[in-house]
Parts: sequence; structure tokens; C-alpha cells
Amino acid sequence: MAQPTHALTQTDWWRSAVIYQVYVRSFADGGGDGTGDLAGVRSRLPYLAELGVDALWFNPWYLSPMKDGGYDVADYRAIAPAFGTLAEAEKLIAEARELGIRTIVDIVPNHVSDQHPWFRAALAAGPGSPERELFHFRPGRGPHGELPPNDWPSQFVGSAEPVWTRLPDGDWYLHLFTPEQPDLNWAHPAVRREHEDILRFWFERGVEGVRIDSAALLAKDPALPDLVEGDPNPFLDRDELHDIYRSWRAVADEYGGIFVGEVWLPDPERFARYLRPDELHTAFNFSFLSCPWDATRLRTSIDDTLAEHAPVGAPATWVLCNHDVTRTVTRYGRTDTGFDFAAKAFGTPTDLALGTRRARAAALLSLALPGAVYLYQGEELGLPEANIPLDRIEDPMHFRSGGTDPGRDGCRVPLPWAAEEPYAGFGGEPWLPQPGDWASYAADRQAVDPGSMLSLYRRAIRTRPVFGDGPLTWLPAPESVLAFTRAEGVLCLVNLGDQPFDLPDHSELLLSSAPLDTEGRLPKDTAVWLRA
Ligand code: GLC
Repeated sequence: MAQPTHALTQTDWWRSAVIYQVYVRSFADGGGDGTGDLAGVRSRLPYLAELGVDALWFNPWYLSPMKDGGYDVADYRAIAPAFGTLAEAEKLIAEARELGIRTIVDIVPNHVSDQHPWFRAALAAGPGSPERELFHFRPGRGPHGELPPNDWPSQFVGSAEPVWTRLPDGDWYLHLFTPEQPDLNWAHPAVRREHEDILRFWFERGVEGVRIDSAALLAKDPALPDLVEGDPNPFLDRDELHDIYRSWRAVADEYGGIFVGEVWLPDPERFARYLRPDELHTAFNFSFLSCPWDATRLRTSIDDTLAEHAPVGAPATWVLCNHDVTRTVTRYGRTDTGFDFAAKAFGTPTDLALGTRRARAAALLSLALPGAVYLYQGEELGLPEANIPLDRIEDPMHFRSGGTDPGRDGCRVPLPWAAEEPYAGFGGEPWLPQPGDWASYAADRQAVDPGSMLSLYRRAIRTRPVFGDGPLTWLPAPESVLAFTRAEGVLCLVNLGDQPFDLPDHSELLLSSAPLDTEGRLPKDTAVWLRA
């Protein structure tokens, strides 16, 4: 294995890192077949280094039938052939590291693909077999077993489809997502052993972090009871999970690796339990991601986030977008600027100019807050959510909603790199169609435009260290203005009100998301970083 030549010696890097999310399939296509791949990522590493990010989080890049964008894993130790090879992944990890960029992989422990050898063996072995004990197989209810074993809802919000599928032999199996994603039985010691081994496999290849998919869903009440209001949830946020993550943490500590959990939980106290010192290092901040563009709501979200993390000593994360949600410039350009899976619909009116203006301000806000920042590919280009023609939609979330949810493909469209090249420089003809105006967002055009989103992100990531590592202190300001400091003399101000805001005395305007008005005031939907 290649030894890193770059001096990445800081051990608490993850407490304040800027982490760039790479959805490999749509990032860059080195092979020219229309699917992004590891060769494409390797060729764009200089771009990522110039952007200034500290780490890359790769969505699942493993062998997979791609029934859910790779979250249906057939082999956790093999790279999808469409993306490349394991040797290439090792090269990529080493090359990134030489540029000062660490690698985080995405592990999917709740379920496997129905093509995974374990599930195929379970199907072949039949009812009552030890092979089926690795999953949740049950007889059905009703006189002939024709009813699903329980009433659990699909974890694809908006889907009324059952989470059980019946086999010709009469057994049903549980899948909180699609039928091609059977849930593993985490009460089985072989499941735990296998995943700890998978963690080691990737840490040994130089990976420095692991994102845990659906992290609060793994453990199930062994009786698989119906959901009963007031009873503990039989499949979400169960206490047994903490024991699992404690043993994962012991594995990570051997390698100095870190975790980021995908934990969607409304209760902040329950959420923080995953971040205790012997469990996960960090978790995604979905309450900030879901928060509307409103000063009071944002201030509350920031305060609540910091308050819930403080007792466990874990750093916050700040997330505006990912591969599952509506892109930021689109969300902020709508009447409802929050994010809610249940509210997604076709044809929502959107003011992209307004959304982009707010997204620029939000970028400066999140990059000034204490903690780590996640940046989803294309956010730095200000890409909007794309409308995907109905006959090109692939996301199961769309189909499982009965066609009412547009699905998540709109934020997964292949990136535009070069305005003058075919397919905006992506490579081959993209697996998802790019909108007609995609070239106008191309990275090469934005790189030479000082007013572009890309230039703003580059400058902001480079300037961000001026905030230091101090705690956040709010400064007196009208309710509609967010004003805070972290380091002596460095301020972040965001105006969400209708009235322009008079800036405090300052020696230097470090960065602004839009020009000040003619009287030097901070206009609506604008953020600045100042040196007092
Ligand atoms: C997570 C992933 C999402 C996937 C689901 C099932 O929520 O982010 O993309 O569909 O888990 O694995």
C-alpha cells in the first residue's frame, strides 16, 4: 500500500473539516460510457484540491445491481465494474492523500442487495434454515399466511408499499427500503463480525472515515411487533445500536478512523446519544438541512445544534444538501424554503435567482459556524435541481411513491465541467440527461468568473481559518440579522430581513456573498465576513 507523502498529521481534522461528497456515478466520466467513474474522480483531484476541501465522502462505490443508486450492495469489498477496480480505488485514496485530501467511504449496514451471496444462499436454503437467520424471514399472518408479518411503514417517505415481500415458498422477508434491499438481522453475531471485518478492510486501504448509512435503523425488536403508539419503536433508534457502535468505535480507534452517522431523529437528546465519546465521532445535521431560510428559525437551529452536541463533546456538522434532497438553490427559491420528503411534488414554482442569492449567503453562514461542513458535489457550482423527463427517472423513491414524488434524480445529474465540450465535459452521454442550460454552470467557466459560485466557495474555504476554533458568540443585531463572532475581531453577518443593515465598524471586508448597496449597507439575503 502506498504510504502518504503529504503531511496529514492532524488527528482532530474531522472536527472542523470541509468534506466534499462525491456521487461517483455523476461526478466525472473518465471512460466515456456516460457513467462517472474512479478515473474521472482521479482526473479531477486537482480541482478538488484547488477548491480546498479536506476530505471526500464517496457514496457507495461497491459491486451493486444499482437498484437504489448503489445502496444495494452485492459485495462490500469490490468496486462496481462500471466505476473501476479495487486497485484504482487504492490509487485514488493515495493520490488524494498526496494532495492533502482524506477519504471517507459509505458503509450500508442495514441491508444488502438481493444479489448478495448471503441473500441468495438464504433464498436457496428455504424456510427455517440457518442461512435465513441472517435476515428477517417470517411466516405471514392471516389464515394462509397471506398477510405481511407486521405493519411497519416503508422508510422511503411517501411510499405506501409494504416492507415485506413474500416468496413462493411462503416465507416473507423484511426490507425497510426496496424489495431488492433485504434487511440484515443485527442480532446475529455473524452480521456483526462481517461488518467489523468490512471496516477493517477499508481502513487498511487508507480510508480515514466511514459514513454509516441509515445508522439508526439496524437493530429490530426480535418479536417484530406492530407499531404501537407509546411503545418503543421496534425498528428505529433502539438501545441495542449503541453497543454495536461501541464495538465499531474500537475498530476505528485502532486505525485512527472516524465515523459520520446518517441519523435522522427528531429528538435531539436521542440523537446526541450516538455521539457519546465511545460511539460515533459525528452525525449529519439534518435539522439544519431542513431548516427554512428564516433568521429566527436558523438561529434556533444553530443554538439547538450546539446545545445538543456540547454535553457529549462532539463537533456539529453543517449540511445544506446531499444526494437525497432538493438542491439548495432550488429549495431556497421556493415559497417553502425548508426540506421535507413528504412535501416533494412535481412542478413547484421556483425563483432560481433568489434561491442562488440565498444559497450564496448560506454558504458563508455554514462555513463560518463551528464544526465540520459537508458540501455535496455541484453545490459549489450552484447547480439547481433538474427536472428529469418522466421516462428517464430511475430512482425507486419515485416509483414507490406511486409516481407522486419526483424522486431524487434531480440532484444527481452528471456535473458540467467544460462549457464548450459535448455533455458539458462530463465524458460520455450522461446516464441521466443534463438540462439544456447545464453548460452555463460549467466549472471551467466559473473558474475564471470572480462572481461565480465556484469562486465564492474557493475564497470562502481558503478564508475560513480566520474564524479559528473558538465557540460561537451571538452579537446584538435585529431579529432578522444573524450576527456572530468566534475569533477575536472576525464577524459573520447574514441579513434575512427586508431592510438593508448598517455594518459595524470594520477594517476589512473579507468576503461578501453579494455586493453591498450604494451606501455600504448589507442588503437582504446577503452575508459578509468582516474584520472589526
Ligand atoms: C440512505 C441513503 C439513501 C438510500 C437509503 C437506503 O438514506 O442516503 O440514498 O436510498 O439510505 O439505503
